[in-house]
Amino acid sequence: MTHRLGLLSMWLVCAALVVLLRPWSGAAAPAAVEPPATLVATGRNLFVAKGCTGCHSHAAVGAPLADIGPNLSHYVPDTMSVRQWLRDPASLRPTTQMPNLHLSEAEINALIAFLQASAEP
Ligand code: HEC
Repeated sequence: MTHRLGLLSMWLVCAALVVLLRPWSGAAAPAAVEPPATLVATGRNLFVAKGCTGCHSHAAVGAPLADIGPNLSHYVPDTMSVRQWLRDPASLRPTTQMPNLHLSEAEINALIAFLQASAEP
């Protein structure tokens, strides 16, 4: 019986420790908001992965395959219009050569964060 109680109290101590230490463990941190640095890095990766570098030069990424679009190294994005531009360029400029890349809103957020971060001097 004492042996059983010993096990039970040990289990209780462990359970209490798990509950007490939770707030400090990484798993308990809120995952909903991506830290800005991570968002910028995601945007930089997307800038390459989505083929922006096919047409646009960017100092943080390198020279484009072809200089079709403007150099975006110091492009200062006006969030509202760039969001719409990235959703569907032709909706703002019907004759543009920039294709609709079917980006998700999360991808657009990351790309804007990347452009914003690199626009700063
Ligand atoms: C096939 C070539 C091409 C690709 C791929 C491309 N763009 Fe463009 N982009 C252009 C051209 C051309 C313009 C210039 C606008 C115009 O006159 O049509 C432009 C303009 C822009 C502008 C400036 C809009 C303004 O304010 O005038 C931004 C920002 C931009 N592109 C971002 C991107 C991003 C981010 C990607 C990747 C997700 C991308 N582009 C992929 C060709 C391209």
